[in-house]
Amino acid sequence: GTPLLSFKDMEEKEQPTGGPHFVGKRDELVQAKRSFRTLEGRDILIIHHGGVFYAMDSYCYHAGGELQNGDIEEFDGKLCIICPNHKYKICLAQGESIYKSTNPKEKPPVPRWYSKGVKQRTHTVTENNDGNVYVKLSDVAGWIESDYFQGEKGKIEREKA
Ligand code: FES
Repeated sequence: GTPLLSFKDMEEKEQPTGGPHFVGKRDELVQAKRSFRTLEGRDILIIHHGGVFYAMDSYCYHAGGELQNGDIEEFDGKLCIICPNHKYKICLAQGESIYKSTNPKEKPPVPRWYSKGVKQRTHTVTENNDGNVYVKLSDVAGWIESDYFQGEKGKIEREKA
């Protein structure tokens, strides 16, 4: 069974709250462009791109690729990070995964962008007047595919890859 926590442990053990958690000074995060942080046991990538901060789960929902090393490009009017492993495109703002495809029934077939929906969990970045930047973890209920690579099983799979 689970060992009982003493009253003292309970006081000291930080309860998961989702934050906001301080993640660094604005200048430092802007300069770094990509910053990796672990918040409440969750590995998060903080991105500064085009003057805007974004935060998302750090491992690609497809097979746990490290998004930290992905290029950022605009597709279909949306800024996306391209996973270095299999080039999946994940939109920075909502964690939506998009792909380009043709419909063979269309004559002539024209390539178009399609959405697979939200696959990557994104988090909220805020900053205050002192240049402190905070991340509040997503509280979207239910399963988002990138959750898998934040868990124990996903971690083992990532390490094998
Ligand atoms: Fe990211 Fe496959 S692991 S595209």
